[in-house]
Parts: sequence; structure tokens; C-alpha cells
Amino acid sequence: MEFKDVAYGRRAVNFFDPGKDVPEDLLREMVEMAAQAPSGFNLQPWSLIVLRDKNDKNRLQQHAWNQPKVSEAPVTLIVLADMAGWKPGHPFVEKNFTELVKAGTMGEAQRDWFDGVCQSLYGASKSRQVAYACKNTGFFAMALMFAAKSLGLDTHPMDGFDLEKVRHEFRIPDHYWIPLLLSVGYFRSDKTLAPPKWRKTYEEIIVSFE
Ligand SMILES: Cc1cc2nc3c(=O)[nH]c(=O)nc-3n(C[C@H](O)[C@H](O)[C@H](O)COP(=O)(O)O)c2cc1C
Repeated sequence: MEFKDVAYGRRAVNFFDPGKDVPEDLLREMVEMAAQAPSGFNLQPWSLIVLRDKNDKNRLQQHAWNQPKVSEAPVTLIVLADMAGWKPGHPFVEKNFTELVKAGTMGEAQRDWFDGVCQSLYGASKSRQVAYACKNTGFFAMALMFAAKSLGLDTHPMDGFDLEKVRHEFRIPDHYWIPLLLSVGYFRSDKTLAPPKWRKTYEEIIVSFE
């Protein structure tokens, strides 16, 4: 599938075929493809909770405006953005720095510089921490949707949910923001897909403040 077809063909589908499962190896391929998304310093501050069990999806749906697609889709992902994913001592920060040194991109002597930059760019305030976690995880989430489409899967992103209730229900630690839920499956063929939505034009997107 050409990227153009993926970009124009992806839709937020409202109805999933509850009888058509997403095999585990296909989900793995989708996630691994999406994990090629870029991130600041390659810190990759994203994680996923994978819900397949009907009862678990119902538990999520009750905190997600009762949107039926949450439980109708064979898989619904809780996408997590790690606001602590830049802090010294965090396992993936340590892994990342080790990899940077191994690759020759940085030397051990640059560790203090690295920690200082991460602190000022990503940790200086709560809003910086949320922005850091969510912008990087947003790229990952978009990559998940494109990867899914390229593999013949359909998706639906949702931010219509109660973040604190979802956090409590699934015991999600406080250092994660939850930018979105993502249902994954196959569009239900007895339903009609809504026509493509409007998009801003090139001229509407480009701005200048001078
Ligand atoms: C972050 C995000 C949150 C969204 N939340 C919801 C939601 O809670 N419920 C819903 O029905 N649609 C939701 N949508 C779907 C959008 O309405 C949809 O993507 C948009 O109208 C464009 O349609 P398309 O994706 O089919 O092109 C969300 C989309 C995004 C990217």
C-alpha cells in the first residue's frame, strides 16, 4: 500500500466487526512498525495497555462516555505518555544513554549536560512535562494508526474519557498522562462509513505573525 493510500484511506471508524479478531502477531507488527516514530533524544516516552478481554473493555467503556466501539473492537489500547521519561534513573533513560554511548553519539562525560538539557527542556514545569510526554506519544499514536491502515486494520482514536477514572480503574501510575484510547479492528461491513471529513487547506494552515 502506498503511503498516499494510507494517509487518505485512514479513517476513525465508528463500528468494528466484533467477530473479526486481530491476531497477536499482527498487533505486534503494527506496534513495532509504529515504534519507528521519532522522539526527542530518542527517549520514546510511550507505553500501551492492551485490552482484549470483554470485561476489561467494558470496564474502560464505562469511563469513556460509554462509547460502544471501546468494547466492540477486538483490541482497545490505552495509550500512555510517560511524563517522567526524561528523568535520570528512569530505566529507559538509562538504556537510552547506554545506547547513545555504545553508538558513539555521546560520551560518558556528556551525561551531566544530557541530564541538564532534559531537565530544562522537558522537566522545567508540569506543563513542559505534559507537553514532552504527549507530543512524542502523539507521533507514536499517529504512527500506530498509519501502521494499522497499512496492515489492513482500522482504528478509532478517542479522548472522550475520564482520565482520572481510567487511571484509577487500571491502576495507572501518576507519572503517565493518558493522551488517548485507540480501538483497533476491522470496520463492520454492514455499516456505512461517514463521508470523509473536511480538512484545512494549505492556505489555512500557513500563518505568519509579522
Ligand atoms: C485525539 C483524538 C481524540 C478523538 N476522540 C474521539 C472520541 O472520543 N469520540 C469520537 O467519536 N471520535 C473521536 N475522535 C475522532 C475524530 O472525530 C476524527 O478523527 C475526526 O473527525 C476526523 O475524522 P477521520 O479520522 O475519519 O478523518 C478523536 C480523534 C483524535 C485524533
